[in-house]
Amino acid sequence: MPKIKFTIITLFREAIEPYLKASMMWKAADKGIVEFDFVNLREFGLGPHKSVDDTPYGGGDGMLLRCEPVFAAIESVKQRDPEAKVILPTPAGETWNQNMAQDFSKQSGHYIILCPHYEGYDERILTLVDYKISLGHYVLTGGELPALIIVDSITRLLPGVLGGETSAAIESFSDGDNIEYPQYTKPADFRGMKVPDILLSGNHGEIARWREEHSGHAN
Ligand code: ADE
Repeated sequence: MPKIKFTIITLFREAIEPYLKASMMWKAADKGIVEFDFVNLREFGLGPHKSVDDTPYGGGDGMLLRCEPVFAAIESVKQRDPEAKVILPTPAGETWNQNMAQDFSKQSGHYIILCPHYEGYDERILTLVDYKISLGHYVLTGGELPALIIVDSITRLLPGVLGGETSAAIESFSDGDNIEYPQYTKPADFRGMKVPDILLSGNHGEIARWREEHSGHAN
């Protein structure tokens, strides 16, 4: 059993899948720590064109995701796993941050991420949603990028995903918005840009103090 399963409901699986098949996300899945699954919203579309959207009542620009395909898609997942929770990426949600990623990473379970597209969604879809999450004060064309950011920021915190034990340790002692100190690797002098002497000194007490002094905080 993976610690966390993400089922992503989307019209654009091809926009998401390559990222999950590379690097740490792939490794995390390969180790069985996390599982990724996709549901094609189009399969639940209406009529011969498998339509998933329509114009807004009251007028206005653009198209909205309709209720029927979204309800059917989510119900198809919940039929197999009634405990699954639904995440909706939306600019109207709570702004995502490291503390929230940590809270999710400490739970285990199944999260369905519903990626809206077009100009928005029928408000009645919110009755299905457990978490509304915004990635920030800007508007994207769909929920695919937010879904990837949510998945990535949670998955990297799951035990066994990050390589170095210390990476996880730094994270677990941080208060959530702690930005790590500046780091350097070889060479000690690159085009005249020198690594601070203290980091070459071998004095672990001094190094720890320097790192503490140079740790930033997100705003
Ligand atoms: N969908 C469109 N824009 C978004 C944002 N900023 N955060 C989450 N979902 C979105």
